Amino acid sequence: MSSIIDTVSWLAPDGSVHFQWSEQAILTGGRLRIIDQRALPGQLRYLSINTVEDACEAIQTLAVRGAPAIGCAAALALAAAGGEIETGSTDAFFRHLHEYARRLNASRPTAVNLSWALDRCMRHLENLSELPVPALKKELLKEALAILDEDIKLCDRIGEYGSSLLHDGMGILTHCNAGALAAGGCGTALAPIYDAMRKGMRLKVYADETRPLLQGSRLTAWELQRAGADVTVLCDNMAAQLMCEGRIQAVIVGADRIAANGDTANKIGTYGAAVLAHYHGIPFYVAAPYSTFDLKLKSGSEIPIEQRDPREVTAFFGKQSAPEGVAVCNPAFDVTPHELIGAFITDRGILQPPFAETENRI
Ligand code: MRU
Repeated sequence: MSSIIDTVSWLAPDGSVHFQWSEQAILTGGRLRIIDQRALPGQLRYLSINTVEDACEAIQTLAVRGAPAIGCAAALALAAAGGEIETGSTDAFFRHLHEYARRLNASRPTAVNLSWALDRCMRHLENLSELPVPALKKELLKEALAILDEDIKLCDRIGEYGSSLLHDGMGILTHCNAGALAAGGCGTALAPIYDAMRKGMRLKVYADETRPLLQGSRLTAWELQRAGADVTVLCDNMAAQLMCEGRIQAVIVGADRIAANGDTANKIGTYGAAVLAHYHGIPFYVAAPYSTFDLKLKSGSEIPIEQRDPREVTAFFGKQSAPEGVAVCNPAFDVTPHELIGAFITDRGILQPPFAETENRI
């Protein structure tokens, strides 16, 4: 499709951590363009998303990843694809659109922001279904951009609330990447760190490497380093020792889906970090926007956990690192029980579970 969406970058090429997009370009024709996170940290490369299939592949292969970013990308891809549907019939338009949304939604199961963003776009259009197709296309784009715009602001609010928990000189451990590469704005878990830096606090950030796909060392270290943060990478199995040495005063992680009781799915290894923090008496925080809460789910046992290709474990970035044919488990996420989470840093303040329906959806 010759898409209606132009340059959407998850990180500005000058190294600033703001989401960049050009409204003018979006309205005058262009493409959805994202940073290809698979190439980082070696190469800052952009990927054009030209079809729904491109978008699904980008999400599945983690070219774009992180719960809020997946939601924004899917909504924008839906708007781009919707803009290309050639029909004057509202029924046919909705039929195509539902099919696109279904395919996008099937691309990854755990981060609820994906279905949340797609449902929100579809609901918006269904409320306007008496409009002619060209007007529906405009409304779809407007809603997708509203999701993006809102996400940028949510990140800033998470940053402000979160930085109130931090103080000068702290060591902070984070897991995976929940920064500017993972959201529309400056991130979730990293937002308090960016806000604290703006306020002049000196923090020492420890980035878990995050096996098997190294989002911590490839992405978190990359974006924090570019933002001028004091960041140190460690292998996942080193955190206990650093905690024991008194070098970590708080752990902040993002989330892919939070159940009503506060159980939280996030990148595999998060649960382990929470157990370690608990043992060492270190506060463990989850930072997430309201769009990551799934209050239909009573507890974390209902969260679908993505199982990924065993080769991510047995071939370390292309180099065989386990014997051929060996059994492998590769869950992409784990669920941290709510008892281990000190507080939730959200766009609506610092919250404690159980969560009421008002905190969910819009
Ligand atoms: O598999 P990924 O890289 O998409 O996993 C991402 C995470 O687990 C993040 O911590 C989470 O999505 C929050 S991003 C703000």
